[in-house]
Amino acid sequence: MGAANMAALCLLAILAGTAVGEERKLSSHAATLADNSANLAFNLYHNMAKEKDLENILISPVVVASSLGLHLHAGLSELLTEVSNSTARNVTWKISGRLYGPSSVNFAEAFVKSSKKHYNYEHSKINFRDKRSAVKSINEWASKSTDGKLPEVTKDVDKTDGAMIINAMFFKPHWDEMFHHKMVDNRGFLVTRSFHVSVPMMHRTGLYHFHEDTENRLYVLSMPLAHKKSSMILIMPYHVEPLDRLEKLLTRKQLNSWLGKLEERAVAVSLPKVSMEVSHDLQKHLGELGLTEAVDKTKADLSNISGKKDLYLANVFHASALEWDTHGNPFDTSIFGSEKLKDPKLFYADHPFIFLVKDNMTDSILFIGRLQRPKGEKMRDEL
Ligand SMILES: *[C@@H]1O[C@H](CO)[C@@H](O)[C@H](O)[C@H]1NC(C)=O
Ligand SMILES: *[C@@H]1O[C@H](CO)[C@@H](O)[C@H](O)[C@H]1NC(C)=O
Ligand SMILES: *[C@@H]1O[C@H](CO)[C@@H](O)[C@H](O)[C@H]1NC(C)=O
Ligand SMILES: *[C@@H]1O[C@H](CO)[C@@H](O)[C@H](O)[C@H]1NC(C)=O
Repeated sequence: MGAANMAALCLLAILAGTAVGEERKLSSHAATLADNSANLAFNLYHNMAKEKDLENILISPVVVASSLGLHLHAGLSELLTEVSNSTARNVTWKISGRLYGPSSVNFAEAFVKSSKKHYNYEHSKINFRDKRSAVKSINEWASKSTDGKLPEVTKDVDKTDGAMIINAMFFKPHWDEMFHHKMVDNRGFLVTRSFHVSVPMMHRTGLYHFHEDTENRLYVLSMPLAHKKSSMILIMPYHVEPLDRLEKLLTRKQLNSWLGKLEERAVAVSLPKVSMEVSHDLQKHLGELGLTEAVDKTKADLSNISGKKDLYLANVFHASALEWDTHGNPFDTSIFGSEKLKDPKLFYADHPFIFLVKDNMTDSILFIGRLQRPKGEKMRDEL
């Protein structure tokens, strides 16, 4: 059994081992949550990155964990409540989950009573054999629960014999120091050396934690989100190149090593001001990583949901919209014109990069992803 699988099993053991409703302080679970979210984040990311033709990636390991566990870990549900609290964090993070059973299923009475509270799902039945209307109602639900930010989770449901879990999310980071809404202009984003798209790019110079890894030819930048309760960490090669090289380097140990080398200094940051909508079907990946038996038709035991061992998870959709925008808290104007902002390093994100959102209090990984191809018009080939 590989290390990845061991880590995965440990995660599930923890998720399953805590009785629902048991209240413990988040802090006592913080280290475990951090470990597990990081293991899950890197395992899922690497497994997905192997997929051919997959461009953007966007996964929230803590949401995957909570929807997989079925029994929500007390600490995990507290964490999700805390990190999506718009008052405390000034973040916009809407998380919705739904379990669709095939029309033949009889939901267990206990599940019907407690699914929202204990499993964090709404649930309903759907006739997967009528694909068109199934897809339509799934997409309508996702759109409605994200205020229209995620209009389409899927175009098709290929397996029609089991249950389906969907997580639909909308995440909009609020920077601890906002970008000026007027410091935005159109630039080229280099998807590859020869394929460029036009995107609005936002610019600002500020004090940020930054590291240049000259050996690996990449930059690491940490940008705090509102009230410094979490940060957006960006990892970008010097120049446009396929991300495989960076992805091979991307381990938890390497990330921690980079983070340990960050130094505060002036950085001139330019980021695409775009929204990305990404929908992943995790069923295959969860199976390959041995994360849960619930996706295996022959082994699944969802009797707590259906009363019988007749149900498995045929589809697990994880769909998120992320809006990169200028919004955030007012910037500190007192350092303008000061020595501190002289000679900024350039972080010009006009080519594919990897990013993570990390919670400051628990160190858990809230999101991991890559922006490889933003939406935008193809630019005319230049001579
Ligand atoms: C969100 O944060 C505010 C301010 O810190 C707090 O008063 C409120 O109880 C929190 N809400 C939830 C649902 O935890
Ligand atoms: C939260 O964000 C909104 C919109 O960006 C802003 O208007 C508001 O002042 C922020 N609130 C706090 C407490 O930072
Ligand atoms: C974490 O929070 C503390 C206290 O608010 C703050 O001093 C620190 O800069 C934050 N760290 C990051 C990486 O934002
Ligand atoms: C079903 O629920 C009971 C009570 O919450 C729990 O002890 C048991 O482990 C659950 N079984 C499965 C297969 O999840």
